[in-house]
Amino acid sequence: MIRLSLLVFVAFTLLSSSHADAEFNPIRQLGRHSVGSDDYKVNCQSFRVGVEANNLRDWITIPSYCKSYIKTYLQKNQYSLDVEAIAFEAVDYAESLQKDVFLKDIWVFDIEETLLSNLGYLASSSVDFGTQQVYATPYYEWLTSNATVVPAILELYNAVVENGFEIVLLSEAPESIGDALVQALQNAGFSGWTKLILKGDADNGKSPEEYKSAKRTELVNLRYRIAGNVGDQWSDLSGENVGIRTFKVPNPVYNRIWD
Ligand SMILES: *[C@@H]1O[C@H](CO)[C@@H](O)[C@H](O)[C@H]1NC(C)=O
Ligand SMILES: [Mg+2]
Repeated sequence: MIRLSLLVFVAFTLLSSSHADAEFNPIRQLGRHSVGSDDYKVNCQSFRVGVEANNLRDWITIPSYCKSYIKTYLQKNQYSLDVEAIAFEAVDYAESLQKDVFLKDIWVFDIEETLLSNLGYLASSSVDFGTQQVYATPYYEWLTSNATVVPAILELYNAVVENGFEIVLLSEAPESIGDALVQALQNAGFSGWTKLILKGDADNGKSPEEYKSAKRTELVNLRYRIAGNVGDQWSDLSGENVGIRTFKVPNPVYNRIWD
């Protein structure tokens, strides 16, 4: 009898505490995804954390059973809160960094899913929250006509400008869509960048990391100091001359944009 009431008490405590936690963690905790002995299935929250921490690499699409988890993550508050937390930290850093006496201090920003959001496209059946691969042509068509701002990153961008840094936008978008991209950036509220670097013919065949590394190295050779580097892909933030500090914007939907 004592054992039974203890069991009831424990069960009740677990239920009520998980209920209270819901306020702090709007993402539903999912159990271990494991079927059979060889077929290990990662838990969806573990998948997302693994992606953000660069532990999971070279994945192509999200696990299909994580679709509703990723949808909830993006469309409820957690994604926005995560972006805000990163932007807040980055603003703090921009305000406190001592400028270099000899070198020109700049911040490098990626564009896709960093300054501009394609959430509407990622939610469409073409991408289906990452269960399908993202292909460049339809992606950039959507981006140049319908992209929205990532609000917390616009605030960071403006704070960086106000603190006297120059801005370099470094994107994998092809030079051929440059005008439309500038228009999309302006529509989203961005202005005042020093350089916009897009992928030219000479860059074809390079991996995203090789391409971005080469462009950053050119900047460093021009006596720029990369004070901050902001992007949603690890290929934005790894390789050569990544900058004094990097800031990873969340993106659990895709790992690269395919040609
Ligand atoms: C952009 O949005 C409009 C309105 O929802 C839609 O009609 C149009 O097809 C979209 N553009 C692209 C390229 O999907
Ligand atoms: Mg990006």
